Amino acid sequence: MTEARQACLITFGCQMNEYDSGRLGELLSARGWTLTSDRAAADFIFFNTCSIREKAARRVLNHLEQVRPLKKGKPGLIIAVGGCLAEQEGRTLLERAPWLDLVAGPQHLPEIPEILDRMMAGERAGLSLTGAGHRPAWSRENLSALGGPELPRPPAAAGAARRLTASVTIMQGCDNYCAYCVVPYLRGPEMSRPADDILDEAKALLEAGVADLTLLGQNVNSYGRGLAGAPSFPELLVRVAGLGAPRLRFTTSHPKDFTPELIGLFGSLPALCESLHLPVQSGSDRILKAMGRIYDRESYLRLVADLRRARPDLALSTDVIVGFPGESEADFEATLSLVELVGYDSMFSFKYSDRPRTKAADMPGKLPEEEKGRRLSLLQARQKAVTLAKNAAHAGQTLEVLVERISGRRQGQLTGRARNYKLVHFDGPPELIGRTVPVLITEGWAASLRGRLAEA
Ligand code: 5AD
Ligand code: SF4
Repeated sequence: MTEARQACLITFGCQMNEYDSGRLGELLSARGWTLTSDRAAADFIFFNTCSIREKAARRVLNHLEQVRPLKKGKPGLIIAVGGCLAEQEGRTLLERAPWLDLVAGPQHLPEIPEILDRMMAGERAGLSLTGAGHRPAWSRENLSALGGPELPRPPAAAGAARRLTASVTIMQGCDNYCAYCVVPYLRGPEMSRPADDILDEAKALLEAGVADLTLLGQNVNSYGRGLAGAPSFPELLVRVAGLGAPRLRFTTSHPKDFTPELIGLFGSLPALCESLHLPVQSGSDRILKAMGRIYDRESYLRLVADLRRARPDLALSTDVIVGFPGESEADFEATLSLVELVGYDSMFSFKYSDRPRTKAADMPGKLPEEEKGRRLSLLQARQKAVTLAKNAAHAGQTLEVLVERISGRRQGQLTGRARNYKLVHFDGPPELIGRTVPVLITEGWAASLRGRLAEA
């Protein structure tokens, strides 16, 4: 081959998708591809897609339109859609966008490099690898191929910063079937990776200099279910911490699966950071029940209290859906009051969106878009004030900051993350990148903190 083949991977959606794209990039690199962010230069364009809300799905179709003309100048160009929208739409996507060559659900990503070889050798394009409307299943081969340990990479360019933060997928799929959520249909049944694979991957990342490690999955605290001999999730955390992880996090967890042991780790495992994403979805018992969330308002609040007892400085974030079918004004008020009661450090909030095949899609009491919009704005305005107050309350504290990069905001400024996952900007020399330094916080803003280097 004269020239390296170039792949452009574009990712939408959650951290799972980010991880999967990273892994696909590694598998392609191992086969001689180079990665590019320039769509026009690419021989292979891959959209790793999300289907959690209708808006996310629509965005992908716009992108597909945009790359269509590139095929005119480069007939050999291969365009593929992967991820959750691919799983949802399957062949339909090929019909809607006939210039597409390949559609592959999340389970099939590891097969892509070989398929590309075949397509480049002239095999017919227009291939769909999905569950075709059935719930897709993970094969053990693909599950392990989608995880590390990292493949050998070409040596980093001189001066390139080492990777400081990384994730390790510990499980795929989801069995919770929350009434609004399409994920169990698209990512298939829960399947945990063997602990040894996870530990090998974590070890390789830590040896490569990663200082902040996140264990990833749709529902991490049910890790090990159905996998003979697997450690429990708390045991897994202890073992990963034992490899010498300076900072350890996990996401996403379900409130119903918090055991006293896991709560206790927030007080006893120093590597486990004081930040937790704990999706609540609604503050109304009636709506929580309709959503099939298992917990109620009171047990959720009790969990928050227990977690804060274990780690008083725990920074909490959450997900909230407004306008779930049948949500009354009183239900929405209950959400507002829960949000005020908990005092989240940050929040992701969404208007309910109908998703194919979900229970909620068939429920009565759908709310008009404008009403959902009104509730969302109200909720977001309330939360903004809380976030600001929470961030401002850090003023005067000295936080340990892992310095990630030069800040784009101002000359001489660096940006890093505190253990509570908040972004911190402060003045300092670039040599500090990659180090963990104490920063005295002077101000808290809506999305970040500002401080100055403190004496070590
Ligand atoms: N509509 C709106 N938001 C949704 N989420 C999941 N499904 C839907 C839906 N149908 C939100 C939930 C979840 C987050 C990842 O996305 O809050 O926690
Ligand atoms: Fe989107 Fe859910 Fe798929 Fe992640 S798992 S890409 S959030 S639909």
